[in-house]
Amino acid sequence: MIQRHEIVEKRAFLLAILILITVSIGGIVEIVPLFTIESTIEPVKGVRPYSPLELAGRNIYIREGCYLCHSQMIRPFRDEVERYGPYSLAAESMYDHPFQWGSKRTGPDLARVGGKYSNEWQAAHLADPRSVVPESVMPPYAFLRERDLGYDNIAEHLRTNRIVGVPYTDEMIEKAAEDLRAQADPEADHEGLLARYPKAAVGDFDGQPNRLTEMDALIAYLQILGRMVDFTDIRTEDLIQ
Ligand code: HEC
Repeated sequence: MIQRHEIVEKRAFLLAILILITVSIGGIVEIVPLFTIESTIEPVKGVRPYSPLELAGRNIYIREGCYLCHSQMIRPFRDEVERYGPYSLAAESMYDHPFQWGSKRTGPDLARVGGKYSNEWQAAHLADPRSVVPESVMPPYAFLRERDLGYDNIAEHLRTNRIVGVPYTDEMIEKAAEDLRAQADPEADHEGLLARYPKAAVGDFDGQPNRLTEMDALIAYLQILGRMVDFTDIRTEDLIQ
């Protein structure tokens, strides 16, 4: 056996071929299951693509690095489920490119923060976290309320997400800017918007009804987190393994 091994060790080319075969087997074992990804992520009722305003807010969330302190992934453990609510399902982040599971929790998990607080609370907290949570170490983001939201290219953002598999329709892309403005305007007609994006929070988010700012978009995004799937019929106990 040792002598036969010598044959391999003395022939660089043969050794290279054998290494290649061994590594390929390892690669196939890892890669092939990914082809069944369609059946790995079970579809869940209620999960929909982000509305244009939510998507703009998500871009700001990523730009500001909120994920460095906040995860968006509730793990299936009793302590997590009791604190944050039903654990996260794979389908809930299937339209997130890239996903925001995060890896560090300096602040709490945000996967189900949508609807937990009012828009006023969110705006006050973002502007000055210590005004509502005195012991907070979160940095203030008051400048977001002073920056007008740039959304000239919002349709392109939807289109780009479609390329990677988010099912935005032609209608959604065509009406992207219109839907974005309608969501942040309490006076607007929201019928089309809500038909395309059920459960989207509408209204003025940042406390400045006459301005459409980056904070409006960020709060619209925070308010949909974890609200797409209806968990009211499911008891929390059933979700704990
Ligand atoms: C340096 C770390 C840090 C960064 C960066 C950070 N946060 Fe926080 N965040 C915290 C901490 C700590 C708390 C808990 C105390 C509090 O509520 O302020 C918190 C709380 C929150 C809460 C309330 C959660 C709850 O369930 O009570 C929200 C919402 C939030 N952050 C959003 C954001 C957003 C949006 C950004 C990016 C614009 C951000 N955070 C950036 C540390 C951070």
